[in-house]
Amino acid sequence: MLLEVKDLRMYYEVGDGVFVKAVDGVSFNLDREEALGIVGESGCGKSSLAITILRILPSNARVLGGEVLLDGVDILRLDEHRLRKEVRWRKISMVFQGSMNALNPIIKVGDQIAEAIMLHEKVSKKDAYRRAEELLSLVGIDPSRVSSYPFELSGGQRQRVMIAMALALNPKVLIADEPTTALDVIVQAQTLKLIKELQSRLKLSLMLISHDISVVAEMSDKVAVMYAGKIVEYGPAVEVLLQPKHPYTTALLKSVPSIRESKRKLAYIPGVPPNLVNPPSGCRFHPRCPYAMDICREKEPNLKEVGEHHLAACHLYR
Ligand SMILES: Nc1ncnc2c1ncn2[C@@H]1O[C@H](COP(=O)(O)OP(=O)(O)OP(=O)(O)O)[C@@H](O)[C@H]1O
Ligand SMILES: [Mg+2]
Repeated sequence: MLLEVKDLRMYYEVGDGVFVKAVDGVSFNLDREEALGIVGESGCGKSSLAITILRILPSNARVLGGEVLLDGVDILRLDEHRLRKEVRWRKISMVFQGSMNALNPIIKVGDQIAEAIMLHEKVSKKDAYRRAEELLSLVGIDPSRVSSYPFELSGGQRQRVMIAMALALNPKVLIADEPTTALDVIVQAQTLKLIKELQSRLKLSLMLISHDISVVAEMSDKVAVMYAGKIVEYGPAVEVLLQPKHPYTTALLKSVPSIRESKRKLAYIPGVPPNLVNPPSGCRFHPRCPYAMDICREKEPNLKEVGEHHLAACHLYR
């Protein structure tokens, strides 16, 4: 087991004693060379989970509990110096949501990559540029593009540059937070293919975050479905996607268009995602769940085994 996240809790403090419960008791594992997809609606806490693992948190974030074990070492308990020296970007790296727009448009691509490398490693400028060229060709961009400005690149190419930067220090784990959301469908497919190829070529473990369950389906060995700060279903991708057990997962799958059933009306999930300051009692999905029972309002369901390595947090399974 490369990465083990156990009962992780991170809340944002938004007022005196008022907290947004963005990550509320999340556990999962990531094996070597495995791809885990994390899926859920906007605001359910996916990015919050990612930045808690890497400990790149805004000042109002409070990590209130849990462990993030990387090869058995709890990185939540490492001091900032060791975290920076040994873990962040070196072992676990991340492509941020919307990051392709974070490139400085008026600094050449090569300068930005080389600068990022020199910030972390004692290498000469020349070696950093050579590495920048290697990284560009790794992500399928002509190395001569080191002297291009980001505004001269397409959105898909800029996203590839961000992926190259995330891989600069040879990490073992790559967290990709909505890596293709801002791209058109064709470029989205190409970018996902690239990520998949890089994963197997570099033997990466991948944590792929998306609100789009069809993206996750294509890319993942395992799937975790998040709802309101919690994982509500977790297991092998084939199990979770073909035999979903949690009503929320079923609803997410129904909202995906299918070529074979083009005439079927697309379902959408009625109701609104809950407020994470005061989430609903019991099961947080109960106000939107077609199967809600009395117990669902009263008691929070724990993740229980509903198949082989397949867990769901739902009172329908007792
Ligand atoms: N710095 C912050 N301070 C307070 N609340 C925050 C902060 N950042 C995020 N939140 C809240 O935390 C919750 C989880 O947000 P998060 O960005 O993790 O969701 P997400 O699943 O990544 O959504 P999306 O699919 O839109 O990217 C949301 O309710 C959001 O409004
Ligand atoms: Mg997000």
